[in-house]
Amino acid sequence: MPRPHILIARAIAPQVVDFLREHFEVQDNQADVAWDAEALIAQLQGKDGLLATGIQRVDAVLLAACPRLKAVANMTVGYNNFDVAALTAAGVQGSNTPDVLTETTADFGFALLMATARRITEGEHFLRAGKWREWRYDMLLGAEVHGSTLGILGMGRIGQAIARRAAKGFGMRVLYHNRSQLAPALEVDCCARYVDKETLLRESDHVMLVLPFTPENHHAIGAPELALMRPGATLVNIARGGIVDDAALARALRTGQIAAAGLDVFEGEPQVHPDLLTVPNVVLTPHIASATEATRRRMCQLAADNLVAVLQGQAALTPINT
Ligand code: DGY
Repeated sequence: MPRPHILIARAIAPQVVDFLREHFEVQDNQADVAWDAEALIAQLQGKDGLLATGIQRVDAVLLAACPRLKAVANMTVGYNNFDVAALTAAGVQGSNTPDVLTETTADFGFALLMATARRITEGEHFLRAGKWREWRYDMLLGAEVHGSTLGILGMGRIGQAIARRAAKGFGMRVLYHNRSQLAPALEVDCCARYVDKETLLRESDHVMLVLPFTPENHHAIGAPELALMRPGATLVNIARGGIVDDAALARALRTGQIAAAGLDVFEGEPQVHPDLLTVPNVVLTPHIASATEATRRRMCQLAADNLVAVLQGQAALTPINT
């Protein structure tokens, strides 16, 4: 039997590339450059599988141009780069990497919340700029985290992991809003109370976005939602760019409508809205919430395991379309 051929779209853990070579004829992206849609289609000719890194768009056009493709495995939990209906229509199995990054991503969400509320980045810039003259009681005053109210929008695995940290580690009151309410036992475990989105925005000292990106969620946080938030509130986005209207957020930060924001994701990333780059009260990081060596390795391995399963005629371990 000829071995299936696969394409790895960008550099991944070398150990996982070696593992894939045990099963497949592998072509990887030696230059580690981002292929545009046309180049990706060209590279995919004759390939049965694709290991994608979350930034390659897989849609009906690509699928029609690559009729041999049977499996596409994203090495990320979010899969808004895949047109799931088109995958299903083309009979292609898509998969993602849930669970393996949950705690690591929740750690980062909490780090970003702390850095934002307690003005850590601003403090460092202040110090490096030589502006620190003396200890002052009113220097760089931030917002309390312990004992405050955290509102979590999107209560999947990562949202739940953040809720546990907040309630059990920091004594926070946790509100959440989600497409569906959690089972009572899970709510107790997360110490979180379900509320509507408006109540969450009005009552939270800190709002954390952990919801998946869907067309309905585009600009779910825009000017009207920011206007509902408390004047001293902070907003943290570790979900996806496009959920927040970055221009409206920059305005709300500049005018002091909300106190601060922490953003790991941006609409149109790696471009960042220029207005965000000029406001001081925002902490900006380059989409690194899952970026630890161990977690990234687990993400690559799960994506590889999904390709092996599907191309050997078995069910994907973590399918996104069935
Ligand atoms: C994911 O897995 O969706 C993350 O955003 C990538 O780190």
